Amino acid sequence: MTKLLVTLVLSLGVAGSAYAVEGDAEAGEAKVAVCGACHGADGNSPAPNFPKIAGQGERYLLKQLVDIKEGRRVVPEMTGLLDDSNEQDLADMAAYFASQTMTDGVADADLVPRGEAIFRGGDLELGLPACTGCHSPTGQGNAPAGFPHLGGQHALYTAKQLTDFREGIRVNDGDSMVMQTIASRLSNRDIEAVSNYIQGLR
Ligand code: HEC
Ligand code: HEC
Repeated sequence: MTKLLVTLVLSLGVAGSAYAVEGDAEAGEAKVAVCGACHGADGNSPAPNFPKIAGQGERYLLKQLVDIKEGRRVVPEMTGLLDDSNEQDLADMAAYFASQTMTDGVADADLVPRGEAIFRGGDLELGLPACTGCHSPTGQGNAPAGFPHLGGQHALYTAKQLTDFREGIRVNDGDSMVMQTIASRLSNRDIEAVSNYIQGLR
């Protein structure tokens, strides 16, 4: 497991390149009206299948927006939505949502023990590293590194992402394929447990 983790961390340097433009949260506020219908006006989506993007790391948000716009990450609900946005617009939107605060969630107590064990300790037998190494013990992630904030995210959305990484449906995690590798070791039950734990994490 240690070897896997070290390999993953070392190869992450290529997971996200820096972008040339600087985002402006105030300018971004004027550009996100259309997003509110699904993600909530401040980025705290009320619907569990739409991700909360409030308080998400700016670098991660911008990378996802560029990936979605260019089709490297397929989000059918957002088809064509970013076609008229240039890189500055995307950076401004990312800065706006990053400046908001993600709301807390509640975990299903029955699923917490297994979910917590995976999140905090990984699983030696499965060769699974702890999630805390990159997403931090509180689930806040590592914004400068582009490791997303997870704590408080809707369990339904998180479970879909882990399943999509596992099935090769979401493939925009860089050449190191860090999340595809990790998700390939997770059963449906483990995905349910860890996603639930994450929903209550703060
Ligand atoms: C019609 C609904 C809808 C609208 C409108 C919409 N989105 Fe989304 N968005 C989604 C869905 C659904 C996903 C997640 C898809 C998946 O399961 O991978 C998503 C994913 C994202 C993500 C990735 C989140 C993450 O945690 O990785 C970002 C960032 C995002 N949207 C930003 C925006 C912005 C900015 C706008 C406005 C310009 C917008 N969205 C408008 C439905 C929508
Ligand atoms: C070695 C670092 C690393 C480890 C360990 C790691 N992750 Fe990740 N994770 C990432 C990176 C980097 C991304 C963003 C990929 C991208 O840019 O699209 C990510 C993305 C995610 C996402 C998508 C978030 C969103 O908003 O769509 C989820 C969910 C996730 N990780 C869950 C986990 C879980 C659960 C574990 C533990 C079983 C874990 N990760 C362990 C680095 C890591």
